[in-house]
Amino acid sequence: MIKIAPSLLSADFVRLEEEINNIQKAGADILHLDVMDGHFVPNLTFGLPVIKQIKDITKIPVDVHLMVTNPDKYLDTLGKWNIDYVSFHQEAETHIHRQLKVLQKYGVRAGIALNPATPVETIFPVVADLDFVLIMSVNPGFGGQSFLPLVYDKIEKLRKFSAEINPELEIEVDGGVNKSNAPKLISKGTDILVAGSFVFGSDNYKKQIQSLKNK
Ligand code: DX5
Ligand code: ZN
Repeated sequence: MIKIAPSLLSADFVRLEEEINNIQKAGADILHLDVMDGHFVPNLTFGLPVIKQIKDITKIPVDVHLMVTNPDKYLDTLGKWNIDYVSFHQEAETHIHRQLKVLQKYGVRAGIALNPATPVETIFPVVADLDFVLIMSVNPGFGGQSFLPLVYDKIEKLRKFSAEINPELEIEVDGGVNKSNAPKLISKGTDILVAGSFVFGSDNYKKQIQSLKNK
């Protein structure tokens, strides 16, 4: 069953609590939080204090996508707060295997995020140790960008490679997801679809979430 993770980046930040409540009522499975530091990506969003307050009022699992250099600085804190899913970028971390273990020590589902130009084969050596992989279908930094079809091939390769060594591995796709590309993403083996502007850009969140789930 596909899970839909609306990205809060496209929500109305002046009314965050209301937006979170509405997205939960609309049937969101996971809440996706985009953390950007102005170094790893050319944009700034929010950091730890905001994540903590959001986690405290959110009833569905919270998924923190770290688009930051030196993600290792934040992993223990996110673990102590029982964040449900945390991913950091392979391009930003030298000791991937070590940092996955830091997250898993707290029971966090640990994931690696891959930029569009990073080959999926580069994470094959750690696939057995991963809970999920976040495949970027836009260059990270902003909501509302166009979907890059190059991800289909990556999803297919990863699904095939992980089938025996880690059948529980979840594949998350993030960026430019809409109702036109969702069916193919699901058929290739995606488990979690992140959607920002497609959901929050509408005045009917429930209808948008449902349209992503309908194959
Ligand atoms: C981009 C973020 C995405 C983004 C998705 O850097 O990681 O999560 O918010 O937004 P849309 O769905 O509008 O591309
Ligand atoms: Zn994201």
